[in-house]
Amino acid sequence: MAANGEAVKTEHLTKVYRDFWGRDKVRALDDLNLTIHRGEVFGLLGPNGSGKSTTIKLLLNLIFPTRGSIKVLGRDPDDGEVKQRIGFLPEESYLYRFLNGEETLYYYGKLFKIDRRTLQRRVPELLDIVGLDAKARKRKLREYSKGMARRIGLAQALINNPDLILLDEPTTGLDPIGTREMKDLILSLKQQGKTVLLCSHLLADVQDVCDRITILFRGKMQTLGQVSELLQVRDIAQIQAKGLNEQQLEEVRQFVQRLGATQTQITHPTTTLEDLFVRVVRQNTGQDIGAGTVAYAGASAEETASGKSKS
Ligand SMILES: Nc1ncnc2c1ncn2[C@@H]1O[C@H](COP(=O)(O)OP(=O)(O)OP(=O)(O)O)[C@@H](O)[C@H]1O
Ligand SMILES: [Mg+2]
Repeated sequence: MAANGEAVKTEHLTKVYRDFWGRDKVRALDDLNLTIHRGEVFGLLGPNGSGKSTTIKLLLNLIFPTRGSIKVLGRDPDDGEVKQRIGFLPEESYLYRFLNGEETLYYYGKLFKIDRRTLQRRVPELLDIVGLDAKARKRKLREYSKGMARRIGLAQALINNPDLILLDEPTTGLDPIGTREMKDLILSLKQQGKTVLLCSHLLADVQDVCDRITILFRGKMQTLGQVSELLQVRDIAQIQAKGLNEQQLEEVRQFVQRLGATQTQITHPTTTLEDLFVRVVRQNTGQDIGAGTVAYAGASAEETASGKSKS
């Protein structure tokens, strides 16, 4: 399958749910023209009932369009080969409650016809990645906490080493450490060249990981673009400097004012509450929180905090 081009392309995609008598009931998606490039993390946002899950179900060929067309990885969504190349984490995971974590992954691996030797390597690898330790992977899913269920759901979504990963509310039920790990994992998937489509109501999470987003409202696309550009306040410039004393800062302020600037403010950047939480918990546990440290392992909390500092 070609490695470049578009991961998803919809044209005039419309979905009308009909009632029992075939009458139009809900126009869940209305003329959606969406292109997701390969290798990007794309965020699908919108209030409840705006059509996010409907879009995902259409891409998965679980439901069919009323009008319009869909291409997934360059092919029709009902193409068997395409289905093999997609990973899906649903809004709520419906996994077998009587299987343990490890057995769950073997079960789904077999459904994808992955051979036993590959699974013997891949299953422990995935359990490590999502941070389920030796004890957790032997427990039955019915005993799992919400966060653990989310983690095993993600591992299941990755069992077939997919090129396109659809994540519906991936951070629901995760604590801040789990959320950070999930976001790091999404970014590491991107580094491996995979495409991720993410639905979430947690805007801060979306802002941290997505390259581009769209906001849906009543099934219609309202806005589309790069997160960095959409959030940029273009008429305000921000200068950052380290090592200046109060007097020097005052001189900078006066200089900027002489240039004609208005609303001059000198403030100190703040970290995010998430960064603070992660730092405090990591300090108390000697960095030993779960096994899913993934891409984050190399960066200190300070580095991460300064990378995301806001003024
Ligand atoms: N099977 C169905 N039959 C009839 N209407 C449906 C069906 N599934 C979804 N809808 C309707 O379609 C609209 C879009 O639903 P959808 O589940 O795609 O929203 P969503 O953006 O995922 O919302 P949420 O944020 O609550 O998950 C809603 O009005 C919903 O009630
Ligand atoms: Mg939904």
